[in-house]
Formats: sequence, C-alpha cells, structure tokens
Amino acid sequence: MRIFLRLLLATACLPAAAQTKTAAQRADSVLKLMTLAEKVGQLHQLSSDFATGPIQPQGDRQAAIRRGELGSMLNLMGAARTRQLQEIAMQSRLKIPLLFGQDVLHGYRTTFPIPLAEAASWDLPAIEQSARIAATEAAAAGIHWTFAPMVDISRDPRWGRVMEGAGEDSYLGSLIAAARVRGFQGRGFGHTDAVLACAKHFAAYGAAIGGRDYNSVDMSPRMLWETYLPPFKAALDAGAATFMNSFNDLNGIPATGSAWLQQDILKKQWGFKGFVVSDWGSLSEMINHGYSRDLRQASEQAILAGNDMDMESSGYAQHLAALVQAGRVPISRVDDAVRRILIKKFELGLFDDPFRFSNEQREKDYYNHAGHQAAARSIAAKSIVLLKNDTVSGRPVLPLQRQQRIALIGPLVKSQKDNLGFWSFDFEDDSSRLVSLYQGMHARVGAAQLRYAKGCELTGTDTSGFAEAVAAAVDADVVVMQVGEGRDWSGEAKSKADIKLPAVQAALIKAIFRTGRPVVLLISAGRPLIFHEVASEVPAIAYTWWLGMQAGHAMADVLFGDYNPAGKLPMSFPRTEGQIPIYYNHYNTGRPAQNDDQRFYVSAYNDLPNSPQYPFGYGLSYSRFVYGQPIASVLQPKGATTITLSVPVSNQSGTAGEEVVQLYIRDLVGSVVRPVKELKGFQKLMLQPGETKAVQFRIGTADLRFYNAQLQHVWEPGEFDLMVGPNSRDVQTVRINWQR
Ligand code: BGC
Repeated sequence: MRIFLRLLLATACLPAAAQTKTAAQRADSVLKLMTLAEKVGQLHQLSSDFATGPIQPQGDRQAAIRRGELGSMLNLMGAARTRQLQEIAMQSRLKIPLLFGQDVLHGYRTTFPIPLAEAASWDLPAIEQSARIAATEAAAAGIHWTFAPMVDISRDPRWGRVMEGAGEDSYLGSLIAAARVRGFQGRGFGHTDAVLACAKHFAAYGAAIGGRDYNSVDMSPRMLWETYLPPFKAALDAGAATFMNSFNDLNGIPATGSAWLQQDILKKQWGFKGFVVSDWGSLSEMINHGYSRDLRQASEQAILAGNDMDMESSGYAQHLAALVQAGRVPISRVDDAVRRILIKKFELGLFDDPFRFSNEQREKDYYNHAGHQAAARSIAAKSIVLLKNDTVSGRPVLPLQRQQRIALIGPLVKSQKDNLGFWSFDFEDDSSRLVSLYQGMHARVGAAQLRYAKGCELTGTDTSGFAEAVAAAVDADVVVMQVGEGRDWSGEAKSKADIKLPAVQAALIKAIFRTGRPVVLLISAGRPLIFHEVASEVPAIAYTWWLGMQAGHAMADVLFGDYNPAGKLPMSFPRTEGQIPIYYNHYNTGRPAQNDDQRFYVSAYNDLPNSPQYPFGYGLSYSRFVYGQPIASVLQPKGATTITLSVPVSNQSGTAGEEVVQLYIRDLVGSVVRPVKELKGFQKLMLQPGETKAVQFRIGTADLRFYNAQLQHVWEPGEFDLMVGPNSRDVQTVRINWQR
C-alpha cells in the first residue's frame, strides 16, 4: 500500500497522457517542470558506501537527494540499500528516481572469469550469457546500470587494466563488446533483468604511454580509428545505452574535455542517443592535466564537450548553474544532457515504479543459483588456454589419469578469493561458495590420492616451505602447481614495470622440476605474465587467468579431460618486458627480420628474438587438429563480390575437441602501409575423433577496408594474402588479386 501511494505521487506530477507517450516525450514533460538546480542534480553522481577512486568531501548526500540535487549514485550493494536511498529520492519535489550504477564487470553474486579470460574462450554466446547472468543478479539488487563492458584495446600487459578488456585485437574486441552489451541489456529496458551497459573508456585509455595507468596517450587519428574506436562503435551498434569517457589526455586534450570525441564523433557522426558519464573525478582532474584553471572552468569545458554526467567531481553541482546564469553554458546543452538521462530512467521503467529493481526475493533467489554457477564453471573451463603439453614417458602429461597420485603445490592451490580477481565483490558467507583448486580436485579424487604443500607465499624470499613441497612431489606420480598473481595485482592502478612470475615462485617451480616428477603448471593472473625461464623446463602449462568462483572445478575439468581445452590467447605473450608493446598486427617496416635469428641491419633486438613467447590466437587441445590446403573460390575477384576461403580441418586423435579456426588478411600494397596480418574471421567448431570439416569463410570487400591518409574507410584493389590457421603465427596462405 505504501508503495502504491508513492507511485501515485511519483507520477502525479506528470501530465495525464504521459503514460502512453514515448520515453522522450515523457522526459520532456518532466524537464519542463524542473528548476535549474534540479536539472544540475540529474547530472551529478556520487558514490555511496564504498570508493573505487580517491574520495572527495561530498557533503550530506541524503539531503542532496531529498532536494532533488543528486540524480545518480554508484557503489551501493543490495536491494535493501538501494530501496532505502530510492525512498529518499521519493521525498524530493519531483520524485525523479535515482539511477544506481556499479562496476559489474564479470559477475555480481556469481563471479565469472575476468573479462580477459572470457575473451580467451572466443565463445561469443558464452560471453553473452555471462553478461546476461551478471545483469540479472545485479538488477535484482537494485542496480540499473553497469559500468561495462570495458572495450579498451591494449597492447601492453604492464597496464593492469588489461584484465578488464578483451585483449589486443580490434576485430575480436568488437565482437566481444557487442556480445557483452547484448548480454547486459538483455531483452531490452523495461524488463527487470536488463541493465544499462556502458562502453568505456572513451577513448584510447588502453594505450597509456609505458603501460602506466592514467598516463597520456599520443596517437595518430588513423590508428585511433583503425584499432581503438571499432569496439566502441560495435558496442554502440549493439545498443549500448551509455558511454564513459576516460582519464587520459588524447593528443593533448583530456578525453573528458574533448568535444571532438564526445560531440563530433560519438554524438554527431555516430548518432549516439544515450548519455556520457565522466570517469571517477576525471572532470576535476583536467586541472591537474593543465587543461583547466579550476573546477569551474573544467565544468564548463566538460559540459560543452558533451560530457553529460559528472561522476565524483561535483563540478557541475558547484558551478553549472552559475555558468548557465553567466551565459557561459547554454541552457539547451544542460537540457540535452538531462533529457538523455531522463529518457534512460523512463526506459528502465523507474518512473512507473522506482523500486522495481530492488527486489529482496529475487536477490535471494540468485544468491546461490545452481544454474548461474554451472554457467560460470562452463565458461571458466572454456577460458583456460593450454600452452604446452609435452610427452613424458610415452604420453602427454595432460589429461591426468584417474588413478595417479597427485601433488598439488603452490601458493594459490588452496586460495579462494584470489581466483575472483579485481572488480569482484565480497559477500558474507562467500567462502562456502568459492572453489579452490584443492577443493575442485578433492571433489574428483578424494583426499587419499592428493598430497598438498603450499611451498611459498606469492612473493617474498621465504623458501622454508620448499622441502615439504619437494617431499610431496616425490610422493606423487604427477605434480600440479598453481602459481601467479594475487587477486588485486592486476586491475585499476595496478600497472607494473616487472611482470615476471615472482622469483620465489619461479624458484619453487625449479625445485619441484628437479624432482623429476612431471609438472603441470597452472598460471593464474590478470595479465600475460613473463615466465619463459620455467616455460622451457616444465612439460605442461595452462594459463588459468582469474577464473571466478568456480575456478577449482573448471581447472579440475580441464586437468582430467572432462573438458578438452579450446581457449586461445587474446593477447600476445612477451618473452620479456623489453618487447612491450607487442602485438601480432604490426607493420612490416622497411627492414623486416625474416626470422628470430636475423639481426644484421634489420628491425630486431640484438639481445632477444622479435617473436613473442606465445602468439596471439595460440592455444592447444588434447585433440590433434590438422589443417588441409586452403582454397579460395576465386583467385581474381572483381568488384563488390563475395568469395569463399575453404579449409578442411581434421581431428586426427581419439579425443573429441573444439578448435578456433582463424582467418587473417594482409593487404600487400596500400596507399598507407598495412599490418602484416589482421584477424578478419574465426569459427569455433567441434570435431569428433577422426572427423573432418570444411570450414568456410566468406570474404567481401568490407573485409578489405582500412582508413586511408584522409581517414576515409576504403578498400584498394591489388593483392591480398588470405591466411588461415590455429593461431596468428602458424598460418597457410592463399594469394588473391582483387580488382574493382
Ligand atoms: C574507473 C571506471 C569505473 C569507475 C567507477 C574509475 O576509477 O576507471 O572504470 O567505472 O571508477 O568505479
């Protein structure tokens, strides 16, 4: 009853016919009733219960909500809490509902693998499902808006935020961006399991110089258009409701103050109808950048540049009304920003029922949802990348055999929360829902077959646990080690100059290797780590990233072969930091090295090979896939036709498995130089033992387009290499000549 009354009040101020009008019309009818202070309030966002950035003094937030001068909050958890604050908003004059945002990047109640790990699955339906479940759970807790997907391309694993994205490739990144947006926004706004997605960080944040977070970006517009913008465009085309700008300056202009990015490209050229939120405090940081004198000027620059909502700077709250009154900011720009936000609040149905998302019963239903956990386990297994699986005593080390005595060694074996990775949530009773490697293995084989020793901590110099670990190894037939990074070693503000596996962990691996027992290394981390010293020694390595709450089960699934690994790296893995930035789609240069040994007056390092430790797209399987000769349907196509590249792929093993068949294209001569190869297609297929499938890629002139020197998106006739293979290195080539 109380709620019903409130609803009546909430809609009482709307014109009678508003209920049948579009969200835009309804937004306009509210806009007409608003004072300038209330309009500014809609553009003001503050965090509530915890911080994900440097906290500023914020005054009395509840009083501001009551006055109608705070329109959105982030960082508050749970249906009860969101309901409580929404009730305060219902005490404001116009009863405009609050919009609650949260960084739901890889699950909410159910923690999924980190986004970079999921990208390694190359499994778009699974990635979409992961986002769908995250949205369902978050929405039940009253969250209307996730600050995801993060679609920044990055070629630099020193940057801790690579864990949030889809890796280095624009094509793969674009498909994943779209899948995530579809997942978050589900069946569309109005459904209580759909939240607003937010494509971030616009733009080029992932190219921070030196991989140092928040650092400047200097980049040609052509590179921006070709590599860094496409995932944003894909997110927009998939319907992303909001965008977040970024901390970095781009070619000297902070993104938050960039009219070129926000007005010209995003809103005009791309026709974006949603709203842009600043990053946390990025508006006030324009003062530090040296772009704004003070907060007043920063606010003026940001709003005029197209930044609609101010997260955590309070610049709009303090100065925007005065800027309008002084004639510095036209009221039409403020109205436009408010309108964009109100439309989303209407579309979500918040004006009809401001509490429709905050639902304690739904929230409880999702607390321990078996279906969601099964999905998390499934995509966790799909995210694992098998990097090495040598033969020892006549058979590959993996999969393990059921009767083997297994020593589980390493600082992460019994760890639970580390598997969650950055941007994950802590809930009470969480520990009973998290599955460590030890628990996953124990559930399979029981304690009698397992030995365990931690060996060492994640860092430090203490080797006193080595002896116990060696003894455990000696008492086993095979050793499985889980090593890598702690939960918050990769993430925001987690840039590292040294991304080697910590020395004490490398030393432990060597000590165990010397026992002569076959060693399987599971490396859990939020970024590509450098581990080439141990990589050459141990016979089996799987990259396990941060796999989320079902990590232990997923690792056991792969170790025992119940799931045959099919993941492929979404980033190149460097041999050492000196190779960074490293990416497969580089230009050829005027003096390309023909191989890793060639050094004489070529573009190469004198002290290490050019090639990465593991190339983009790389990953093994327990099956053995053999690629036949690729054949193009036409070798000399003409005009806007479509050709087909076919390649037979066989599974020449006794194990059914999935393979990600990858298509790359090189444009041999261009009016601007073109990369040595670019991913243009992939297909993930299941092959039974002995089965052969003909994989077909359809290629049109759209696949040949690039940005020329005038930034026109064109294709140019000439020769192209069509390459197909299991990764970006091991490809077979067909050359074609495509004329107009
Ligand atoms: C991050 C954003 C995040 C925001 C809110 C910022 O520090 O850069 O990605 O959405 O905080 O938590």
